[in-house]
Order: sequence, then C-alpha cells, then structure tokens
Amino acid sequence: RMPILEQCYNLMDFEAVARNVMKKTAWAYYSSGADDEITMRENHSAFHKIWFRPKILVDVEKVDFSTTMLGTKVDLPMYVTATALGKLGHHEGEVLLTRAAKKHNVVQMIPTLASCSFDEIMDAAEGDQVQWMQLYVNKDRSITKKIIQHAEKRGCKGLFITVDAPQLGRREKDMRVKFDDVGSNVQSSSGEETDKSQGAARAISSFIDPSLSWKDIPWFKSITKMPIILKGVQRVEDVIRAVECGVQGVVLSNHGGRQLDFARSGIEVLAEVMPVLRERGWENRIEIYIDGGVRRATDIIKALCLGAKGVGIGRPFLYAMSAYGLPGVDRAIQLLKDEMEMNMRLIGCTSVDQLNPTLVDTRGLSMH
Ligand code: FNR
Repeated sequence: RMPILEQCYNLMDFEAVARNVMKKTAWAYYSSGADDEITMRENHSAFHKIWFRPKILVDVEKVDFSTTMLGTKVDLPMYVTATALGKLGHHEGEVLLTRAAKKHNVVQMIPTLASCSFDEIMDAAEGDQVQWMQLYVNKDRSITKKIIQHAEKRGCKGLFITVDAPQLGRREKDMRVKFDDVGSNVQSSSGEETDKSQGAARAISSFIDPSLSWKDIPWFKSITKMPIILKGVQRVEDVIRAVECGVQGVVLSNHGGRQLDFARSGIEVLAEVMPVLRERGWENRIEIYIDGGVRRATDIIKALCLGAKGVGIGRPFLYAMSAYGLPGVDRAIQLLKDEMEMNMRLIGCTSVDQLNPTLVDTRGLSMH
C-alpha cells in the first residue's frame, strides 16, 4: 500500500514511494543517470565526506535562513532546478512546481524542454514570484534568440545556459523502456522528427548545438540584460574563465549524473573552486551555485559553508510531485525548511552569512 504523505519524513522517502507508483517510462527517465551511474551515486555520497565543526553556546533562539540569489530574496537557499518532461510524472507538469515554489518563496528554474509551454509556466506564477530560465542552445541561433528575448520580456530574472550537454548522455535505464509518449509530453523546441528508439532523453534533444563555445558568450550578453549563469561547470579553470567573461554566476553541476560519468560532484568542485576565488579576491565577482544529490538541509548548509550562494534540487521534487501532487512538493520543501531551522541551531548559526569554512571539516574530500 502507498504510504500517506505524512509518512514521508525526508526527501529520500519520496523517491522510495515514487519508484513503486510511477509509470515505468517516467521512473526510467527521472531516475536514470549516465553509463554506470557512478557520478549520480557519488553526488549524494560526496556530502558524507564533510563533517561539521559546530559552535556552542550561541543564542540560537531566532534563526533566519533566508538569503538572496541573483538579487532575489528567498526563504531558503535553495531553488527548484530545471528538469525536463514534468508531465511524465504528473499530468499538471511544471506549473505544479511553480505553485509550490510560490508558496515557499523559492525560485523555480524553467527548463527549455518543459512539458508545459513556457508561457503556461510564466502565467502560473503569481505576483512578484521570480522564475529563471534554463537554456539549451539551438543550432538555429535565431530560435534561441527568440526564446531568450521572450523569456526576458515575460520577466525571467536569470538565464541559465546549460554547458554540460553538447550531446545528451547515455542513460541506459531510459533507453531500455520504450518511449512512446514523448509527443504529448514535451513542447519540442526543435520541430525535428524524433528518434523514439533511444529513450526519452535522446528523443527530445537533437536540436542542441554541440558547437556552442566560449566565443558565443558575448553574443548572449549582447541580446539580453538578464544575468547569465553557466550551468554545468566542473573545474576551477572554467570558473575563472567565466569570471573573465563577465557572467554573473556558475552552477557547479554534473547534470544530476546524467551526462559525463565520473564527473565529480558539485560539492567536491566547490571545495576546489572557492579557495582559488578567495585567493584572487574574486569571491564577490560571481555567484556560485551547486546542484546534484542535495537531499538534506545539512547538505545545503555544507554547500553554503564552503561558499555557495545556494543549491538546486531536482529529482526529489519530481518524485514528490509524481507520488503526491502539489501537497507532496509542498511537504518536501517544508521538510527542508524544518531541517534547516534545526541544523542551523545545532551548528550555532542564526543566519546564512555566518556560515563559513571553519564550520566544516573537509579533510575527507579527495582533493586533500
Ligand atoms: C535534469 N536536469 C536538466 N538540466 C538541464 O539543464 N536541462 C534539462 O532539461 C534537465 N532535465 C533534467 C531532467 C531530469 C529528469 C533530471 C533528474 C535532471 C539536471 C538538473 O537540472 C540538475 O542538474 C540535477 O537534477 C540535480 O541533481 P538532483 O537534485 O536531481 O540529484
């Protein structure tokens, strides 16, 4: 029997339920990672290599874990990251995530390959709710230009260009199930015939331009005033280059382990990146985000201690949505907030600006 929502006590619980109740195609697409899924598993376990050095005897009666991300005030240093094909898991798709994000005052990143149309997702936002846009760059740049300028006109507050996917990774779990409902599940940005024999991911991604390069960055800057963030950066050299290019942020990410297997986890890369930025005095020139395997508030706190501005979370919300609809996503975010309050108290911090590297022991990370 399916557990009632109140029996989900943490983000992992939603995954266990979703696995049993989701359609096979949806489970295969959401849960799969590239190749042997080593990176996908590492994403969460990397957090287990970091331990806390909590402070004691701090007055923690009042705890405030709100922050700003790209200038937006949010109630939790977390955003709902872009994940394609929301309707595979729930008939309402991404707009359901929009409503949950609104309720908790967090940002939603809208995927290029959403099941709902971009305008439907923007229309679902209320008041001054902030949304960002994730961009897969089309071989036909005039299409990309149109998408970007439309997003800006509709009020998107950030352009996250995915840079870790010149070709979509091989997700064999996904390839094994016959993918036949792609047509009804994506607003295809390509207009091309899709090859359904290769799983959902391959079927929808043929328009992505593998020739995208650093040379294109000035062009993006010239056609939009939205902050530009590179999503999927994996080495400090590229963060430095991103700063030099004048982009506003990077997401240290391996696409949830769905692209290059044996890419390092975001948290591991963060531990490499921040000391170099600090050495150069560049830590305020760019906002650093991470995603991948974030499942607990302690994961969020570790990332902030090491210098991240915020973290993205993907699969847990898809699972919560697929299993329980809006109340599921609502509860998932609330659980994170509850964990956050408790763990901020337990490490002796009352606001996120107090989180710093002395609060974590990173000697277990492989860079040491
Ligand atoms: C993704 N991700 C992703 N990223 C992106 O830039 N464009 C996309 O269309 C998608 N689609 C997508 C679908 C699904 C089903 C998943 C699970 C992920 C990657 C996503 O933005 C993020 O990097 C990871 O999901 C973070 O890892 P966790 O939280 O899922 O472990």
